[in-house]
Amino acid sequence: MHILLTGGTGLIGRGLCRHWLAQGHQLTVWSRSPERVSTLCGAQVRGIGRLEELGEEPLDAVVNLAGAPIADRPWTRKRKTLLWASRISLTEQLLAWLGQRGQKPQVLISGSAVGWYGDGGERELHEDNPQVTDDFAAQLCGAWEETAQRAEAQGMRVVLVRTGLVLARDGGFLKRLLLPFKLGLGGPLGDGRQWMPWIHLEDEIGLIDFLLHQQQAAGPYNACAPEPVRNADFALALGRALHRPAILPAPAFVLRATLGELSGLLLGGQRALPVRLSEAGYQFRFTDLDAALEDLLADSH
Ligand SMILES: NC(=O)c1ccc[n+]([C@@H]2O[C@H](COP(=O)([O-])OP(=O)(O)OC[C@H]3O[C@@H](n4cnc5c(N)ncnc54)[C@H](OP(=O)(O)O)[C@@H]3O)[C@@H](O)[C@H]2O)c1
Repeated sequence: MHILLTGGTGLIGRGLCRHWLAQGHQLTVWSRSPERVSTLCGAQVRGIGRLEELGEEPLDAVVNLAGAPIADRPWTRKRKTLLWASRISLTEQLLAWLGQRGQKPQVLISGSAVGWYGDGGERELHEDNPQVTDDFAAQLCGAWEETAQRAEAQGMRVVLVRTGLVLARDGGFLKRLLLPFKLGLGGPLGDGRQWMPWIHLEDEIGLIDFLLHQQQAAGPYNACAPEPVRNADFALALGRALHRPAILPAPAFVLRATLGELSGLLLGGQRALPVRLSEAGYQFRFTDLDAALEDLLADSH
């Protein structure tokens, strides 16, 4: 297969490239830094700075993951504009380019997040649930999904991957927590009762590959392990994996004062369940958080 990726240089994208190169697929990554693509994604992966460089070269699938990091800094108006443009405007640009091509890929797999639901409180969230709250993250994911969904009118199968917190060895959320937790400064955020849908990177890659090959798969899929945990339990599990205490809470008022609106992302949560993936027959490799953390952190304590 010839697969075009956006965000291919990111945490999930690099994992997908490794996985698909090993299976012999042809990969192209549309990037702001095409010259870095072969170093980051693999020597055989082609980097392009403009979609037009592909011309009418046949494509089988597009995987659309690009977007500025959502939790890196407070959501000022300028930051929100960038978060929006890097997902919605970029997806619009992708669709406009696909629209004027003769040959269309069969499938578009496009990113989203469990933040699509907003703060779900205690309720279990299945893919057919409506959005619960209308905060910025929910609006962003909503617009991202709606934009990608328009590819259906071009004859493509559209899959929307509502990803939870990806746990990985070399990046993402876990890497940022390691230093404070190793110093014994880790603990729950706020009252720690909010739900955290997590997923091991290996499953994130496994399920995207699964959805690529399932000819019937379309629409939204919660990409998170079947057993979400509360934030306080996550902190305890991480403390156990690192053999450190994890009891120092980060009070909600401090998070609100320092992070502003972004604090809602940490103090709210989603009890999201991968109902549609389970129905489709995807077998998770990691369903237990302790086992996932042990796998990822075995040599870091
Ligand atoms: N990791 C998670 O826990 C998680 C959870 C839920 C949802 N997601 C979503 O899934 C997607 C992939 O996640 P990830 O963790 O692999 O992301 P990542 O490591 O932050 O990489 C995202 C990629 O997006 C591109 N990008 C960054 N800033 C951009 C900008 N201003 N304009 C255009 N492109 C930009 C970059 O590619 P180039 O530098 O090559 O252009 C980057 O490699 C993201 O959109 C993320 O929001 C991730």
